[in-house]
Amino acid sequence: MMRATEIIMKKRRGQELSTEDIHAFVTGATDGSFEDYQLSALLMAICINGMTDRETVDLTMSMAFSGDKLDLSVIPGAKVDKHSTGGVGDTTTLIVAPLAAACGAKVAKMSGRGLGFTGGTLDKLESIPGMRIDLSKERFIRQVKDIGIAVIGQTAELAPADRTLYALRDVTATVDSLPLITSSILSKKIAAGCDAVVLDVKAGSGAIMPTIEKSIELAETMVRIGNRTGRRFSALVTDMNQPLGLNVGNALEVEEAVDVLSGRAGGKLAEVSLQLGAQMLVTAGLAQTAEEALARLREKLEGGEGLKKLAEMIGAQGGDPRVTEDTRRLPQAARRIDVPAQETGFITGMKTSSIGYAAQALGAGRMKKSDRIDPAVGLVMKKRMGDPIEKGEPWCELRVNPSSDVNAARKLLADALTISREAAAAPALVHAVIE
Ligand code: URA
Ligand code: CA
Repeated sequence: MMRATEIIMKKRRGQELSTEDIHAFVTGATDGSFEDYQLSALLMAICINGMTDRETVDLTMSMAFSGDKLDLSVIPGAKVDKHSTGGVGDTTTLIVAPLAAACGAKVAKMSGRGLGFTGGTLDKLESIPGMRIDLSKERFIRQVKDIGIAVIGQTAELAPADRTLYALRDVTATVDSLPLITSSILSKKIAAGCDAVVLDVKAGSGAIMPTIEKSIELAETMVRIGNRTGRRFSALVTDMNQPLGLNVGNALEVEEAVDVLSGRAGGKLAEVSLQLGAQMLVTAGLAQTAEEALARLREKLEGGEGLKKLAEMIGAQGGDPRVTEDTRRLPQAARRIDVPAQETGFITGMKTSSIGYAAQALGAGRMKKSDRIDPAVGLVMKKRMGDPIEKGEPWCELRVNPSSDVNAARKLLADALTISREAAAAPALVHAVIE
């Protein structure tokens, strides 16, 4: 097609695409009038030559309007969302969404499934007996109005252009491009109708970007572009040089979220959740400063109101809210297997992605889109970055069922740790805050 080759040529030569060019490209991706190879060629040209902020804003908005848009204006108050670029043991949504709702935010959240080595909130929620994540648009909006919180899967066809482009990027080595990641994530958030969004951009060995500097650049780009679209965006760049929580796996992560909200567990998962919550309240205009927001969130945590809100949400979505009182009501794996350290020293490095892939091999994630997840399996970390460890001492424990591929998991975990004779400082938890 004439138009397609013209646009590809322009970007190939490093020229700026017009608003009309970008609209034609997104329309071509949505209605199939551009062939996959033309879309792929253009994606590669964008990946190599980049985009100006103006082009990125146009791409984001074109994609956001490529399908249905949710209108949340019937819900009074500030609608706020959060989005993680994907992590391991990264259960912050199940902690921060109820806490923010308990502080008066309206949390209307559409979450995703696990992808590759990263977990997905929908898969975690589905490990709760009876829990439904496929509410209609009307029921979703009513629930947010009534109790201040709903977390569901994408109902309508939000940003369908992204589905096509993301699938092509996945197989053409064009995922890690700033304008492409930015437009992919922001278009879905804008189509989902939120006023304020906090982005949790991961940095480290389990992150989409290869270095901390690149993660910070991605966060800055997303906030800058997002704020040009008329919504309020902010970002935290948080550490993924080790799993965030101790549990990796679906029911296991629900259990840890309940433990945090009950005050039984603290640590990095709790701390990052509170920091994200503080940004959510500030970005939504519900608090003046992060300090004020943190104090309110801590009060709700200590008073058990976050846990109550989670139970309320689970009940409203057909799930068994008693899992918040007794986590043994969640699916449990049949067997536990210790994974011993191969050397003595200090843990100075972890391949977080390998730990995520090991959980996937046990059945906590999908290899193919059609795979079924085993909600009970996964692993529990016994050691953190910086900890001393002895040869033979377990550093994590597998939770397995008969269908788990234990050998594959062991192989992935065999070189997941770096153990050194000298101790090294544990990585910072929050690498940057971008407002
Ligand atoms: N997540 C998305 O939704 N899109 C990207 O491009 C990267 C991560
Ligand atoms: Ca995600």
